[in-house]
Amino acid sequence: MSETSPRLRAELEGIPTYKPGKPAAADGPAAYKLSSNENPYPPLPGVMESALAAAGTFNRYPDMACTGLMSELADRFGVPVSHVATGTGSVGVAQQLLQATAGPGDEVIYAWRSFEAYPIITQVSGATSVKVPLTPGDVHDLDAMAEAITDRTRLIFVCNPNNPTGTVVRRAELERFLDRVPGDVLVVLDEAYREFIRDPEVPDGVELYRDRPNVAVLRTFSKAYGLAGLRVGFAIAHEPVAAALRKTAVPFGVSQLAQDAAVASLRAEDELMGRVGALVGERARVVAALREQGWTVPETQANFVWLRLGERTADFAAACEKAGVVVRPFAGEGMRATIGETEANDIFLEAAEAFRKEL
Ligand SMILES: Cc1ncc(COP(=O)(O)O)c(C=O)c1O
Repeated sequence: MSETSPRLRAELEGIPTYKPGKPAAADGPAAYKLSSNENPYPPLPGVMESALAAAGTFNRYPDMACTGLMSELADRFGVPVSHVATGTGSVGVAQQLLQATAGPGDEVIYAWRSFEAYPIITQVSGATSVKVPLTPGDVHDLDAMAEAITDRTRLIFVCNPNNPTGTVVRRAELERFLDRVPGDVLVVLDEAYREFIRDPEVPDGVELYRDRPNVAVLRTFSKAYGLAGLRVGFAIAHEPVAAALRKTAVPFGVSQLAQDAAVASLRAEDELMGRVGALVGERARVVAALREQGWTVPETQANFVWLRLGERTADFAAACEKAGVVVRPFAGEGMRATIGETEANDIFLEAAEAFRKEL
């Protein structure tokens, strides 16, 4: 037997591993998971029925072209079918976008801190991450991001609202930024939490993409639509970007269960958006209560809140877990808590209050 091991790409060395949100403990006190920005509502019965019907055919491959879902999405957004591309969650589509645009020697710009998959998928592509710090108010610094563009820049992520801070960039500043980006650099507007936005000044990326061939919009069924476990997301982009996404897609990546559940979810959009509305109401309640307790909470337009706790982050997360909710700590920086069930939010608020009193 040879002593050598297969030669792997050097880019994979030192890659940060994606930390999934910690699950709620099966036994013991922590009962609610507020660590992954999931939708706390169970699947709608009609959506479940579609998925179960598809489950009866899983001896077959899914529709590789996602025909039904693609045409529903094109109708829903008023775009040509050729501008839609689906993938295994929007993180899968983001990875395809990188595969399509960037490799060794190229640069990818994004704000930091932002979605933790960006550094991972950038490094896997072989490209170099250029992380532009958020402003002191935890918002994308679009001027600094524009200034970071070089001849090597191939892709820029703008996460709006930003994960994990929930903060947004608004129309005027985003348009000004897009006007500064050269036409051969792809700007990816990651709108995983779009449906939770209530600020009318936050533009819909689908409107911005229409006359900008270098803008791609990323959306997902994982959050507002509650299909996180089924792994389906999509991009809306002009040709040739959308065509490149079809080339880089894992063949048959989106299961028939996911496709049919996504179609059923689009058809049940009113009911699902009612749930989103309730979560937005809970968000307002949680933010107001935290502020009342004395915390500084950045304005959030997503289904989570961010507390910049610095060195106290780990202790805060441990206190929450002891109280019965699992949040998402980013060691030394802060913690993100998803807006969940009312009971879970109440436990979180009680834990935050108790922690605050001990400071
Ligand atoms: C900003 C952002 N983009 C994309 C995703 C990926 O979601 P999914 O792959 O489930 O569509 C997430 C998930 O947490 C996210 O926070």
